[in-house]
Amino acid sequence: MQASFEKSESLRGDIAVPGDKSISHRAAIVGALCRGSTTIRGYSPAADCSSTCEVLLELGVRITRDPGWVIVEGRGGIGFKQPGGALDAGNSGTTMRLLAGALAARPITVTLTGDASLRARPMARIIEPLNLMGASITAEDTEGHPPLEIRGGALEGIEYSPEVASAQVKSAILLAGVGASGRTVVHEKMPTRDHTERMLRHMGIGVAKHGLSVEVGPGVPCGCYLDIPGDLSSAAFIIAAALICPGSDITVRSVGLNPTRTGFLDLVRRMGADIVVDVEDAGSWEPAGNIRVRQSPLKGIEMNGRDVAGAIDEVTLVALLATQAEGPTVIEGATELRHKESDRIGGTITGLSAMGADIRETEDGMVIEGGRALTGAVVSPNGDHRLAMMFAVAGMAAGGRTVVRDWECSEISYPGFLEALRGLGGTGMAFHG
Ligand code: S3P
Repeated sequence: MQASFEKSESLRGDIAVPGDKSISHRAAIVGALCRGSTTIRGYSPAADCSSTCEVLLELGVRITRDPGWVIVEGRGGIGFKQPGGALDAGNSGTTMRLLAGALAARPITVTLTGDASLRARPMARIIEPLNLMGASITAEDTEGHPPLEIRGGALEGIEYSPEVASAQVKSAILLAGVGASGRTVVHEKMPTRDHTERMLRHMGIGVAKHGLSVEVGPGVPCGCYLDIPGDLSSAAFIIAAALICPGSDITVRSVGLNPTRTGFLDLVRRMGADIVVDVEDAGSWEPAGNIRVRQSPLKGIEMNGRDVAGAIDEVTLVALLATQAEGPTVIEGATELRHKESDRIGGTITGLSAMGADIRETEDGMVIEGGRALTGAVVSPNGDHRLAMMFAVAGMAAGGRTVVRDWECSEISYPGFLEALRGLGGTGMAFHG
């Protein structure tokens, strides 16, 4: 399916975005490890989060699903069922990496696979630490590409410093640590999202944080009620559209404001964005609140590796905003973007160049000269949901017509994205078979 976009009218009004994808994955996985049941309100409708539920069902976990609600019957104390065949994580790196960690300490053998994009993603980063803990995980090749065969068993806690700044790697080790003997410590190079630590602590596991280090002890988490806030990474596309569509003034309600996820807001503020954040419940296990955004003149910025780690899923949106800003934007330390659902540096350069942007690729990032009007083009997101939605926002600010191919991939994280934009008054959008 394709979707087309023309210059949009201003966006105005209030919106609530779907539940946070990262927190939803963790709620289902930790819920499955629990004693007792976990009731999750606001579970993300993203296809990726359905993949997590599908895999857990194959592992014998009872899950009841209603729109917006999921109830997970924990297998703490019972253990997972040995599945009959390979388990399919679809397009979801979070499903594969976090479940590999959770399964490494369980006495079953599981094969985890996924779609062509997931089978091309690097898994050595989790295989190495989990095998050091005592698991036996093998991959398709020496580069660690899936399918992964995980022979779980008795693990011992380790102290580990991952090479890459990755919440998925940290979380895989911590989830294995919950089932290991002794303590497990992860020392990070740069801060990454801390939802796993927060959730484990909230559900009764001993977690200690010291600077960039986090330690977990073994235990069985306790089922509870979880209210998932809106996904700031999904809201980021709406926020970016509001920043560049003239006259826009919108408020995103009840969205997650965990400080390890708000890097995008800090970056666009540095660019001059008029953004007002109202935190509703700072003391909650996951803070949330409202964000008011008004269309703003923007200026270019410099981004380093730490900025990238704090806004890893929003960097391509910063690149788009930079095309409409005054002056140059330099993005460095972004090599990890090449290992996402697609090479997001290459895909961004190809698509935005076709739309008339002055953007060039560097080894670890991009350089964008701002102030170039965009013009419509046919662009391909290479099956990558975040690129599809970034090009959609670009099309809302461009002259002429922009056609985004593979539009169905936007369902990986934000089903109903186009309807959400229309609900705010966005115009010029259409689906094409
Ligand atoms: C995620 C962490 C990030 C992010 C991904 C979701 C998570 O990946 O890009 O969309 O839920 O932990 P890395 O931690 O591998 O950078």
